[in-house]
Amino acid sequence: MDQTLAGRVALVTGASGGLGAHFAERLAAEGATVALAARRVAMVEARAEAIRAAGGKALALSLDVADPQAIGPAMDRIEAELGPLAILVNNAGVGGQGLALDISVEDWDQTFNVNVRGVFLCAREAARRMMASGVAERGEARIINIASIHTFEPKGGLGAYCASKAAVGMLTKVLAREWARPQIAVNAICPGYIETDINADWFRTEGGQKQLKGFPRRRLAEASDLDAALLMLAGPAARAITGTLITIDDGQSLP
Ligand SMILES: NC(=O)c1ccc[n+]([C@@H]2O[C@H](COP(=O)([O-])OP(=O)(O)OC[C@H]3O[C@@H](n4cnc5c(N)ncnc54)[C@H](OP(=O)(O)O)[C@@H]3O)[C@@H](O)[C@H]2O)c1
Repeated sequence: MDQTLAGRVALVTGASGGLGAHFAERLAAEGATVALAARRVAMVEARAEAIRAAGGKALALSLDVADPQAIGPAMDRIEAELGPLAILVNNAGVGGQGLALDISVEDWDQTFNVNVRGVFLCAREAARRMMASGVAERGEARIINIASIHTFEPKGGLGAYCASKAAVGMLTKVLAREWARPQIAVNAICPGYIETDINADWFRTEGGQKQLKGFPRRRLAEASDLDAALLMLAGPAARAITGTLITIDDGQSLP
């Protein structure tokens, strides 16, 4: 098979499970050397081992994206062990639930520290390195932010999450503009609901089942539904795609 990402080094944040682990596997299958990062090191190590067992190249590392001091050293290690970073998938995210009258300041701040500040700091650190290494000049630099349909769609009880994902959408466009000249493509994927740890409990409740039955296709989407967008935005096809937000939601946001 033609491996369009052969020789590229990718970092996927939040790769200990859910969508991040899936993205890492897909990028590795396409030939990329993948660094999988999250706080639960044993889980990222298991995911990296599975990729290596399947013939791919992968490195597991510990990274809390809410810790500004941790991001540079993590990327130092990736560059030292794997080579210059070409692809960043800013996937790490938390749910940020709570009605506006109830949510604590700590929960609000944690949602923004992971979902927005973490995305920003990882993107900035990666961009600096992509420019310094020559990866950007070669037209290979890609930043893919994982936003959500809640970038656009409000939902009661998810104020912090919706606001954080709206911020990711706008940040994607601003960074794409600032880094257009140095040729770093910055885009976002806005998925609909896909069952992972972030929402599995919710979809077992009566409210969750009611929401699901209200979707036009009465089902959740699957992680593999995001593959085509992921690989397009990571690879050569994204040469002229930057500042774009791609919604993939199985029609869930249609009225
Ligand atoms: N599933 C959906 O329906 C859906 C829809 C739209 C958008 N999204 C977005 O997709 C992304 C992945 O979510 P998911 O559904 O795969 O949820 P998940 O299964 O809960 O995975 C979240 C991942 O983020 C990591 N993470 C959380 N806080 C972190 C931190 N401070 N530093 C580093 N990693 C951290 C977790 O790893 P550790 O706990 O090991 O650190 C985990 O690997 C999120 O940005 C989410 O908002 C999901």
